[in-house]
Amino acid sequence: MKLAERMDRILVESAFEVLVRARALEATGRSVVHLEIGEPDFPTPAHIVAAAKAALDEGWTHYGPTQGYPELREAVAAHVSSTRGIEAGPEHVCIVPGGKPILFFPMLALLEPGDEVIYPDPGFPIYQSMTQFLGATPVPIPLLESRGFSFDLDALRDKLSGRTRMLILNSPQNPTGGVIPAEEIRIIADLVRDRDLIVLSDEIYSRIYYGERPASIASLPGMQEKTIILDGFSKTYAMTGWRMGYGVMPEWLVDAVNKLMVNSNSCTASFTQRAGIAALNGPQDEVDRMVAEFARRRSAFCEGLNRIPGVRCAPPGGAFYAFANITGTGMDSRTAADFLLNTAGVACLSGAAFGKYGEGYVRFSYANSYENLMEAVKRIESALAGRYPKISAPVS
Ligand SMILES: Cc1ncc(COP(=O)(O)O)c(C=O)c1O
Repeated sequence: MKLAERMDRILVESAFEVLVRARALEATGRSVVHLEIGEPDFPTPAHIVAAAKAALDEGWTHYGPTQGYPELREAVAAHVSSTRGIEAGPEHVCIVPGGKPILFFPMLALLEPGDEVIYPDPGFPIYQSMTQFLGATPVPIPLLESRGFSFDLDALRDKLSGRTRMLILNSPQNPTGGVIPAEEIRIIADLVRDRDLIVLSDEIYSRIYYGERPASIASLPGMQEKTIILDGFSKTYAMTGWRMGYGVMPEWLVDAVNKLMVNSNSCTASFTQRAGIAALNGPQDEVDRMVAEFARRRSAFCEGLNRIPGVRCAPPGGAFYAFANITGTGMDSRTAADFLLNTAGVACLSGAAFGKYGEGYVRFSYANSYENLMEAVKRIESALAGRYPKISAPVS
C-alpha cells in the first residue's frame, strides 16, 4: 500500500535521530556527553508530581472537557495575562498534549495550498515541516548572528506578500537561544497589524531568559486578536514527558482547535491537568533555581567554546541552547556534528538541520551538568587540535 503523497513533504526532528546514533556508540563502550536533546535535565518539581499522584488517587482518570478543565484554563489565562500584559480569559485557552499541537492544529485549521508561511531560519524544524505538509509555501527569514539571531527585518519586509497567511515568531528561540528585542517586536507588529494574517508566537521558552523578559507581540495594540500564543509546561517545569501545553488565541479559532482535538485526542490527560494547576499556582522557586543554573552553565560553556580556535559562540539571551559558529574549523555543519560525535564523543546537532541559514553552526543544548559541559569543552578542544593542528597552534 502506498503512503499518501503528502507524506513525502513531512520532516522529522534530527535530535531524536542523533540520540539514537549516540546511544549506539555508547553501546560499543564509547563515552558520549549528550548535548543534543532539548529538554531540562532537572526532575519535575516534587509538588507537581505529588499533585499528579493525588489526582490519580482521587480518580482523575477519565475523559475531561476537550478544551481542558476550566480551573486549568483559568490558571493559564491568569498567568498569560499577567506575564504578557493582555486580557485573556479561559475562553481563549486550549489545553493540548504538548506545545506541538498548537502548531499542528491552528496550521491545519488555517492554511490552504498556496498560502505562505513566514518563519525563522534556522528554526524549529516543525514549522517548515507542517507548512509543506499542508501544501502551503514555506518562506524562511534568516536570523542573523550579527543581530543576536534576531530577524532580518529587511528580509521580512521583502517577503511579506498578499499570500502571507501566517507569521511564526519564536522568542527565546530554538536553536539559537536568541531573543527578539522589544523594539523589533514593535516593528514587526507595525508591519503586520493591518494585514490579513495571523501570528503564531511560539513562546515555549518564555520563562527561560537571562536578561530582560522577552516581549510578546500579543501585548501590542491590536495584536492579541490576531496572535496565537504557544506555551506549555515542558520546558518551564521540566515536564517534557508529561505532554501538556496550551495555546491562547482568538475565540473563533478556539472552536476550530476544539474540533481537531475531538477528532484526534478527545482531551488532554485529566490527572496531568490537575498537576498543571499545581505547577502554575504553586511555588515557582524551582523554576527560578533551574534558570539560575542554566545561566551559570551558559556563561561557562560559551566562554569555554570561545577559547577553542575555530569556534565562536556569543552567550544567548534565552532557552538552553548555544549555537556555535564553526566556520573557522573548515568543516560544514553536518561534518562538524558527525566529527564531534564520533571523534570527540560529544553529541550535538548540525545547524543545517534547522534550515539552510543554520549552515556554519552546530547546536549544543546545555541542559546537562556543569561538569559534563566542561568535559565537553575539553573533548571538543582536543579533538579539533588533533584534526586541525594549524588552527590550534597558539598565536604568537
Ligand atoms: C521552539 C519549540 N516549540 C515547540 C516545542 C514543542 O514543545 P513540546 O515538547 O511541549 O511539544 C519545542 C520543543 O522542543 C520547541 O523547541
